[in-house]
Amino acid sequence: MPRFLRPNQFLYPQPLEALFANSKPLFLEVGFGDGRFWAAHHALEGAVNYLGVEVSGVSLQKAFARYKTAQLEDAVLTRISAEFLIRNALPEKSISRVFLNFPDPWFKGKHEENRFVRAETFELLSTRLTENGELWLTTDHPPYYDFALEQAASTGLFEVTTPEPPSAALQTKYAMRWQSQGLNIHHARFKVIKPASREFTRLEIQGDAMPHAQLSGDIPNAPLEKTVARFEHCTVILLESFARENRLLILARIEEPDYAQEILIGVGVNDDGRVITQLETFGQPLITAGVKKSIGVVTDWLETQGMTVVRRSY
Ligand SMILES: C[S@@+](CC[C@H](N)C(=O)[O-])C[C@H]1O[C@@H](n2cnc3c(N)ncnc32)[C@H](O)[C@@H]1O
Repeated sequence: MPRFLRPNQFLYPQPLEALFANSKPLFLEVGFGDGRFWAAHHALEGAVNYLGVEVSGVSLQKAFARYKTAQLEDAVLTRISAEFLIRNALPEKSISRVFLNFPDPWFKGKHEENRFVRAETFELLSTRLTENGELWLTTDHPPYYDFALEQAASTGLFEVTTPEPPSAALQTKYAMRWQSQGLNIHHARFKVIKPASREFTRLEIQGDAMPHAQLSGDIPNAPLEKTVARFEHCTVILLESFARENRLLILARIEEPDYAQEILIGVGVNDDGRVITQLETFGQPLITAGVKKSIGVVTDWLETQGMTVVRRSY
């Protein structure tokens, strides 16, 4: 049966044997949409492990239902940006194949930097693909296709072939849509020839320890003003606060490379009478360096409101 994993259920980096309990090759599908591709194509690939990554929750539900009906084994789905997962969770030389079917083209001028196939992603992939591992791209969009070829070539790390696409890639939701409008489909395979010499550092992601601080004094009930704190690798935005019965909840947005999350930070009195500000578990946040910084930003704000910091643990 397929499995769904939340981002905070991965390890960073994630040993593959702990994810699949076998050593079959790993195939990754980026932006699987409603899951039609893998449901139709998997039988042609033999025994492999499948990891599907999507940012859309609705797509994830549809694909999950489809894979369940098809009783797909060794399939894990997750909802997060593919770039984030590849960079932070997947080990070096771990992915045998990446499928990218009909990626969002980001065709307006400056939006090119959002394209998955930019040179930086090719470099990253060159470190995460196994020897001779490949990215298979299928798209209806000639400028996107040309851009991918040009960006890959600029890295000098990939060899490109342009065979026919696998037939299942011509039957995805988007493949059908574009073909019905008379658009041609383009396909290219990028085989890694060597890994990039630059290193791709991983974001520091902590396990379960909830970052917190202890304070003394009265919890403020004046509303918090929107606060933006910029750090080298992240931005913390305190959006608003909700006060209720000597308890404060603060909604914050944390922006880090390829990942943004909204979290709740609580300020309240715990059972032994200490005032604690801490990350709330609601929404299953991923405890990144940016999340830890946000506890510091809230703690600093509480100080400006007359509270005294006793201990910082983040
Ligand atoms: C045009 S749709 C194609 C869906 C499917 N592959 C198909 O052919 O029907 C592009 C998909 O990529 C997903 N997507 C966009 N950016 C992504 C990212 N950074 N990581 C993972 N998925 C992403 C979108 O949510 C969307 O489902």
